[in-house]
Amino acid sequence: MKVLAVFGTRPEAIKMCPVVLELYRHPDVQTRVCVTGQHRAMLDQVLDIFTVTPDYDMAIMRPRQTITDITTAVLTGMGPVLDDFAPDVVLVHGDTTTSMAAAMAAFYQQVPVGHVEAGLRTYNIYSPFPEEMNRKLITALATHYFAPTPGNQAALAREGITDNVVVTGNTVIDSFQYTLRPDYVFKDSLLAAHDFSEKTILLTAHRRENLGRPLENICHAVRALVEDHPDVSVVYPVHLNPAVRETVFDILGGLPRVSLIDPIDVEDMHNAMERCYLVMTDSGGLQEEAPHLGKPVIVLRTETERPEAVDAGTAVVAGIETQVIIDIVDNLLQSPDAYTSMSQAMNPYGDGHASERIVEYLRTRITGV
Ligand code: UD1
Ligand code: UDP
Repeated sequence: MKVLAVFGTRPEAIKMCPVVLELYRHPDVQTRVCVTGQHRAMLDQVLDIFTVTPDYDMAIMRPRQTITDITTAVLTGMGPVLDDFAPDVVLVHGDTTTSMAAAMAAFYQQVPVGHVEAGLRTYNIYSPFPEEMNRKLITALATHYFAPTPGNQAALAREGITDNVVVTGNTVIDSFQYTLRPDYVFKDSLLAAHDFSEKTILLTAHRRENLGRPLENICHAVRALVEDHPDVSVVYPVHLNPAVRETVFDILGGLPRVSLIDPIDVEDMHNAMERCYLVMTDSGGLQEEAPHLGKPVIVLRTETERPEAVDAGTAVVAGIETQVIIDIVDNLLQSPDAYTSMSQAMNPYGDGHASERIVEYLRTRITGV
């Protein structure tokens, strides 16, 4: 069996590298990795940690690229890769424009697509944008579906997709086995010097639909929280998107107890998350990781495609209004009961064996081993 894994951004790489490493363990599988390079520095950080070397690299990233730029570059770039390797199946992940365009390119050559992290939905095609539409399109283009949770499987079933669906857990939980260590020494100098015995808020925010006013609101909330709570510090690894960086550095730059740092590699990230007090984020991946580590998650969005963590009591959708965010975080900082009930909730995203289930499915269903 010939499997081509295609990914291009940081979160896809973090969630696909465990699958690739599991595929490498099977000599009956020929595995090739194609990166689009939709992200460059942030992707390469992940490849280094997992020591995965791409067989193909489209190197498409441009400063301030549009989603049309990404789509056209990936569609064009996939043709020669598919011709060269002639895979039996193409694996894509989640909801990025890399994944959508790679799935479409595979479909154009009638190569079956396996969708890792299938079945997530907000039912609002403009939020997250363009990710909700990307994942709906990938559902239509794919043949095999790896749903992280039973809820994701049910969402696919409601759309008439019941064949070739397997519930696996989320591969991000698998990634922890490569990154978490109790005696971990941080590579980032600010993290290495950081006092995690203070109440540390780990913050990330980057989503396209949050650019502009919503991100300003979020930053104003963080500023107020730090000013009101002298025992609280914030660590914010700021996404490399210039549109994110301008707003964040404008509002939070130079504030005492706010560390604005460059994106950290996933080892630093997971170990910082393990040591922090709570997480504030608009990221998808952090919503899955933090519950596994017993950290409350304040979701800086108006809705989520990951309701399992909210239902389990470990995440709260705070929205993007400054005062609402402040009130929710204030409560968690001041009420031990509120904090304990969120930090002791169960992680609903799997047992760390999702990659094995995906590879086992592929070997039995595609080659009949
Ligand atoms: C992309 C995905 C989003 C995912 C996010 C993870 C799409 C449409 N969006 O959004 O779903 O949540 O990645 O982070 O697929 N940049 C760099 N270096 C890097 C990475 C980015 O300089 O290593 C800058 C570039 O100027 C680039 C910009 O960030 O043009 C935006 O990157 P892009 O991939 O288009 O969008 P993201 O917001 O990162
Ligand atoms: N992450 C990281 N370094 C950072 C910020 C995030 O390694 O500086 C990891 C994080 O742990 C998670 C993933 O990147 O696994 C999330 O990526 P991102 O927030 O960019 O995308 P999303 O999950 O929103 O698609």
